[in-house]
Amino acid sequence: MTPTKAPAGPKRFLSGVQPSGKLHIGNYFGALKQHIALQNEGESFYFIADYHALTSIADLEPEPRKRAGILAANAHDVALDYLALGLDPDKAAFFRQSDVPEVCELAWIFSTVTGMGLLERAHSYKDKTDRGLTPSVGLFTYPILMAADILIYRSHVVPVGKDQVQHLEMTRDMAGYFNNTYGVEVFPMPMERLDVAPSVPGTDGQKMSKSYGNTIEIFAEGNALKKPVMSIKTDSTPLGQPLDPTNCTVVALYKLVATPEETAELESRYRAGSIGYGEAKKLLLGKIEEYFAPAREKRKQLARDPGYVEDVLRKGAQKARAEAQKTMELVRKAVGMKPRPVS
Ligand code: TRP
Repeated sequence: MTPTKAPAGPKRFLSGVQPSGKLHIGNYFGALKQHIALQNEGESFYFIADYHALTSIADLEPEPRKRAGILAANAHDVALDYLALGLDPDKAAFFRQSDVPEVCELAWIFSTVTGMGLLERAHSYKDKTDRGLTPSVGLFTYPILMAADILIYRSHVVPVGKDQVQHLEMTRDMAGYFNNTYGVEVFPMPMERLDVAPSVPGTDGQKMSKSYGNTIEIFAEGNALKKPVMSIKTDSTPLGQPLDPTNCTVVALYKLVATPEETAELESRYRAGSIGYGEAKKLLLGKIEEYFAPAREKRKQLARDPGYVEDVLRKGAQKARAEAQKTMELVRKAVGMKPRPVS
């Protein structure tokens, strides 16, 4: 085999996010925060997975005529969220997946070297069909498009959650199938990076997740923020009695948004019996507001300037697309296609 053509130089990070509605605190502390921090550690590519979102848009919106609007609005919302929470477009290429159509070409090529069996073993596909969903071909081949997303930028490190590890294994399989089928090592083997993220409980004490309906949205305001916080489930210790801070959702969330000193103070008030759950929840609400205040302000500013956001995405796509085209030149050559004529 000819030597690997992985780009030399700094490590390349890539991750994609599905535009699936409002972000919650669990998304932020569980993933986003770590993703955004990586922009300082190497070259990073972050994209909004709108091609992937098409595989579930029919479940998201029952009214056919509303689906296009929802996709566009959700994609724009994620862009605002990431930029407001600190993604720096001068450091990371930030773009919409569908602005780099070469990923679909690579996905097709991968589909010709990948066995059906590999895809049939995908957990996410099995989970959905087990729940009675009638799968589209796109849902079935979702992991192929994901492999193309990662490999087209010849990324080294993919920060993801545990639920995506199998997709990364499949990505390495596909890189290998391609390299072996054509006897050239076009693709490096990307690795997942699983950050140790704090577990973020939702208002009912289970893991915070949209599917459990127990989320606290980051950019909710006023009553929309107050309501879920005040509804956090606690035990029924009467007011004036000591409370146990070690097993309390309010304290677990407070830790994420308060300083260690503030947390220690709340814990000692719990033990002393000098605070009730109602008051603790109000303190938590205040801290959440304070923690996200700068991002909230920034998001409002950005929302007033959709031209700027589009500009960021356009520039990000230009950078990403130039990289994708370089890879596709190698891929096309490897399979026996001519360089694409410049139009
Ligand atoms: N499947 C990922 C998710 O649901 C989103 C995604 C699409 C992705 N393409 C990717 C993540 C490439 C990392 C790399 O979260």
